[in-house]
Amino acid sequence: MAKTSGKTLKNETLLSVLGRDPEAYHGAVNVPVYHASTILYPSFAELKKAEQREYGKVFYGRHGTPTTFALQDTVAEIEGGWRSFAFGSGKAAILASLLAFLENGDHLLMVDSAYGPSRQLAKGLFSRLGVKHTFYDPLIGAGIKKLIQSNTKVIFTEAPGSLTFEMQDIPAISKAAHLTGAKVIMDNTWASPFLCNPFALGVDVSVQAGTKYIVGHSDAMLGMVTTNKECFSAIEQVFDDLGASASPDDCYLALRGMRTLALRLERQGRTGLQLAEWLAGRREVSRVLHPALKEDPGYKIWRRDFTGTSGLFGVVLNPVPEKAVAAMLDGLELFGMGYSWGGYESLAIPTYPHKIRETRNWDPDYPCLRIHAGVENPEDLISDLRNGFECLNKAKRKSKKRSS
Ligand SMILES: Cc1ncc(COP(=O)(O)O)c(C=O)c1O
Repeated sequence: MAKTSGKTLKNETLLSVLGRDPEAYHGAVNVPVYHASTILYPSFAELKKAEQREYGKVFYGRHGTPTTFALQDTVAEIEGGWRSFAFGSGKAAILASLLAFLENGDHLLMVDSAYGPSRQLAKGLFSRLGVKHTFYDPLIGAGIKKLIQSNTKVIFTEAPGSLTFEMQDIPAISKAAHLTGAKVIMDNTWASPFLCNPFALGVDVSVQAGTKYIVGHSDAMLGMVTTNKECFSAIEQVFDDLGASASPDDCYLALRGMRTLALRLERQGRTGLQLAEWLAGRREVSRVLHPALKEDPGYKIWRRDFTGTSGLFGVVLNPVPEKAVAAMLDGLELFGMGYSWGGYESLAIPTYPHKIRETRNWDPDYPCLRIHAGVENPEDLISDLRNGFECLNKAKRKSKKRSS
């Protein structure tokens, strides 16, 4: 690490300090990319010593190189965990976190608002492996107690929820889980490691789709699993078992992304709120789903547990045919249409929560929107959305005429 004379530093400062050691790299500011599969040892004795495998020490390329370790150390420290492991995608990180604690005969509690492919893991792969699951209401809080069975080993949380952005009472859920020894995993991607410390809320293992805000530029896939001390060896084992580690090039890009994480989030969070407030005033909009808006039902929990907002939120439109939503999205010029988020660019996609939810019916049964605020000028983005609504209204009038 760069020299800091033992001072206690704020996270913004740590983002530019952690994982660096210019003296070790000929004065280079950044840790270079180490491409390696084979690691050569100077002697038989050194080769044998390496077999004992120490976290953060090179052994074989799949277990990481100095580039990987620099990223892992930085993420672990910023997110408030003990150690981190870098996987090839967020999905691989989610799979690893679940595999670490679940086996045939176990029960998994997963929040109904979890990222779709996480839900699919519960319904598909883990069902085949003999793990039963129950999806629970994201607003359940301490009521989770009633759903915990003697074989419940994991409670999987995500806050705010994917697509619908409900906040979860993570401390209440963690408290209930720990009474029976179940582990709490949190998908903390929305907040990134910078805006929420899940370990302070009682979480055992945090998962990040590093592909989003950590990388921050839509050019690499990455997943991070960060663990507390107690769960470290279970996560280390599954990291080893899966062999799905991140490439050194992607770790480099992610570490570079971490250096500007606070700046990007500050700007994108602020712009996202501006867009959300503007959208809430539009007659085409029924509700904006954003926990950092004062009128949002999750606002109190967000204020209590998070230190800021990222730029991703949802929009529920007033009744509208899908064709009109399509016309709006096709009419936007600055908002790209594509899956993923967390890069520097603004995005908008249609979402269909009513097709997924199991614990309660989701209204409405037509598409909602998911908006991601990038770093562009907010006035330009608002003007683009205004044009988009013109396209929506035009298409709506056309479809009304046709049906009358
Ligand atoms: C909340 C959340 N978790 C996990 C993932 C999966 O990450 P990846 O695409 O890197 O596999 C995503 C991707 O969209 C996500 O939105």
